[in-house]
Amino acid sequence: MKTQVDAGGSDPVYWDPYRPDLGRDPYPTFRRMREEAPLYYNKEYDFYALSRYSDIDTHFGNVEVFSSARGDVLEFIKEDFEIPRGMFIWEDPPLHTVYRKVVTGIFTPRRMNDLKEKVRDYTARCLDPCVGTGRLDFIADLGAKLPGGVIGMLLGIPDEDRDTIRGRVDAALRTEEGKPMEVSQTSYKGEGFEDYVDWRAKNPSDDLMTLLLQVEFEDETGTTRKLTRDEVLVFVNVLAGAGNETTARLIGWIGKVLGDHPEQRRQIAQNPSLVPAAIEEILRFEPVGPSVARHVRKDVEIHGQLVPAGSAMLFLLASANRDESRFPDGERFDIHRQGQPHMTFGRGIHVCLGSALARVEGRVAMEEILKRFPEWTVDADNAKLSSSSSTRGWETLPVFIP
Ligand code: HEM
Repeated sequence: MKTQVDAGGSDPVYWDPYRPDLGRDPYPTFRRMREEAPLYYNKEYDFYALSRYSDIDTHFGNVEVFSSARGDVLEFIKEDFEIPRGMFIWEDPPLHTVYRKVVTGIFTPRRMNDLKEKVRDYTARCLDPCVGTGRLDFIADLGAKLPGGVIGMLLGIPDEDRDTIRGRVDAALRTEEGKPMEVSQTSYKGEGFEDYVDWRAKNPSDDLMTLLLQVEFEDETGTTRKLTRDEVLVFVNVLAGAGNETTARLIGWIGKVLGDHPEQRRQIAQNPSLVPAAIEEILRFEPVGPSVARHVRKDVEIHGQLVPAGSAMLFLLASANRDESRFPDGERFDIHRQGQPHMTFGRGIHVCLGSALARVEGRVAMEEILKRFPEWTVDADNAKLSSSSSTRGWETLPVFIP
């Protein structure tokens, strides 16, 4: 086995997840990586990357080799970060299995679908004030409000406290342009939710927080017990962290992608039954989390090259989503596309637990936007991509409404 990965050619392909110019349009680089360096190595930041659909499909779910126990973001894997117990998105079996089962029993697709009309009312309240103003900002007017509002509804958090959820989580994820994220030891333990958890423990209701406080489960030692206060706080933090910025960015991409494809936007406005397919195509075309990282815990050979234990591997979901071998004409946005599922919600044991909720929010948002604003043009001079290494999307996306 060779130990060196050569990107090949006289002008080797280069991918740096922190470089804003590459981040603005990563797709030409991803295409070259799929063709020229399917197992890519970046010396500067010392990580490997897989970009082909088939490779990600094969390796991403292999938890024996690719561990989540040091996080799923490159910066965390590189640090000696102490992951709080219960942060199941960053745990391997058996702990992940135990906790995932607890949350799966509560966070059911049915419960998410039951929220649909509440999500619609909330969306209408966000959008109605914009009608007749000639302007709409997909982030400020909706993306910044809806996901936090919905998680707040799920957890039973009173309306007036909900905006703080998004602010806290976004601040933790933000990066300085061109630089890796600063890893904080304290931002994942559920700070800010303590008072609410304690209040809810004494005032049970029919919300998810009450269920989390009451559920009994068998832990990894075989003991049947309730979640500790710390575990509940960490769970809430995982849900708020995983479901907030991601869905906010999805709403931004609805504005950008349908702004760039007015003919398809008109088809959807005239025929709302196209909305679910249009959301899937936006999720494929512009996935809000372009990559997910893993810590390599055993030597593995890929494309004849050794990836040594201790390395970091990036799985480029955004590249897989445009892999021509799976998505013919994959660089084209097409709401009538049939066939392959995209990779945007991940694969394997960590596959997104909130995908049903994200789909409800995305679909309702698209329906309600198109009902009120069937036409728009993106205000490109004032639209700004967000600076975060774990998600890719718009910080602000103002549009002109005719
Ligand atoms: C467009 C929106 C979303 C996208 C693209 C997305 C994407 C993902 C991806 C790729 C993973 C796998 C991470 C990994 O393998 O390390 C994941 C996991 C997860 N997501 Fe989402 N997500 C979205 C929305 C949500 C929402 C709304 C929630 C809940 C409120 C949520 C909750 C979770 C949780 C709890 C996990 C961890 C699951 C586990 O480790 O077993 N996500 N998500």
